[in-house]
Amino acid sequence: MSEFIRELLARRRPGHALEQAFYSDPAVFAADLEAIHYRQWLFAIPACELEKPGSYVTHKVGAYGVVIVRGSDNVIRAFHNTCRHRGSVLCTAAKGNSPKLVCPYHQWTYELDGSLLWARDMGPDFVPADHGLKTVHCRELAGLVYICLADEAPDFDTFANIARPYLEPHDLANAKVAFESSIIENGNWKLVWENNRECYHCGGNHPSLCRTFPDDPSVTGIEGGETPAKLQAHFDRCEAAGLPSAFYLHGDGQYRLARMPLNEGAESYTLDGKSAVSRWLGRAPFADAGTLLKFHYPTTWNHFLADHSIVFRVTPISPTETEVTTKWLVNKDAVEGVDYDLKRLTEVWVATNDEDRRVVEDNQHGINSPAYQPGPYSPTQESGVIQFVDWYCDTLGASVGQTPMAAE
Ligand code: FES
Ligand SMILES: [Fe+2]
Repeated sequence: MSEFIRELLARRRPGHALEQAFYSDPAVFAADLEAIHYRQWLFAIPACELEKPGSYVTHKVGAYGVVIVRGSDNVIRAFHNTCRHRGSVLCTAAKGNSPKLVCPYHQWTYELDGSLLWARDMGPDFVPADHGLKTVHCRELAGLVYICLADEAPDFDTFANIARPYLEPHDLANAKVAFESSIIENGNWKLVWENNRECYHCGGNHPSLCRTFPDDPSVTGIEGGETPAKLQAHFDRCEAAGLPSAFYLHGDGQYRLARMPLNEGAESYTLDGKSAVSRWLGRAPFADAGTLLKFHYPTTWNHFLADHSIVFRVTPISPTETEVTTKWLVNKDAVEGVDYDLKRLTEVWVATNDEDRRVVEDNQHGINSPAYQPGPYSPTQESGVIQFVDWYCDTLGASVGQTPMAAE
């Protein structure tokens, strides 16, 4: 399989879309999981979703099932969702609250820290301490929970130290999930990302988002040369008010942070551009602080606004299916119907997600044709896509012993 991947990567044309196999071949999909999703840190959930000790959520990444649970000591931990007896799935629900984790098959019972508390009739030689749940690396960063399935997780601290000051003013620890949606897009996970990393498509596809979100490539793309004066003025104004804002792209390309302005006068992603929530989440000093854009490959992009935040999670399901989960976070004390109207809060991104689903699915259908030939990305409009595809190819290539390709 490695040879097949090496050949595909060797004949790729930088600055161009990838060839068909990258978007549909099961062998490439398997390599993507092995090289990327089973190795990298993955955004899983906002920490506020685990409201109290015993709150848990389950999540699937490829073949792995994971349960993420808040312990009685309030620490969030992640475990493989596989019983240490005969391997049954331990937690079958998507989420819940339970004082112990009890396997539905023979009722082996685990503490919230994963240790085995009780197993019936296992004989005198059975050692419960040898049968605790297998752990999954888990870190909480300013209210965002990341997991890593690798035996040895890559460094997390560098990312955490860079991202924390940007995130802390948004006070995600004091958030609640006002609404969540999960949709399946019938397209490869990389097409979901490619679509996310440009706004070349926004004008033609996102009538409601474009009321507030600029389709200026300097907002979605990567920094090229001078920061435009208007953008710099926005960064300066926000930073002077205590909100870290300047554009930051990590050297290996895996993550980016930048607080971008919305359209003139816009405060939030609503149809009229005004705030959606009167009781804000976080400490933004003014309503038009724009949106803190954060992406972290391969699983998440986010928008952190003055009044609320939105977190997105991308999960590959099959070569041509991807789950996109969106959660709208508001101040935990905000009351629906009083401080916000749920439809007004969610309608722009519910529509935008559906519009993105359609363009991703159309993109996949077209790529499935034998006549498909990878075309060139726009260097100005699609610099973010080029950046994503380069990161992907470098990361996949490193796993099969290939050195990064110099950009053309
Ligand atoms: S498989 Fe879990 S208790 Fe038997
Ligand atoms: Fe879009």
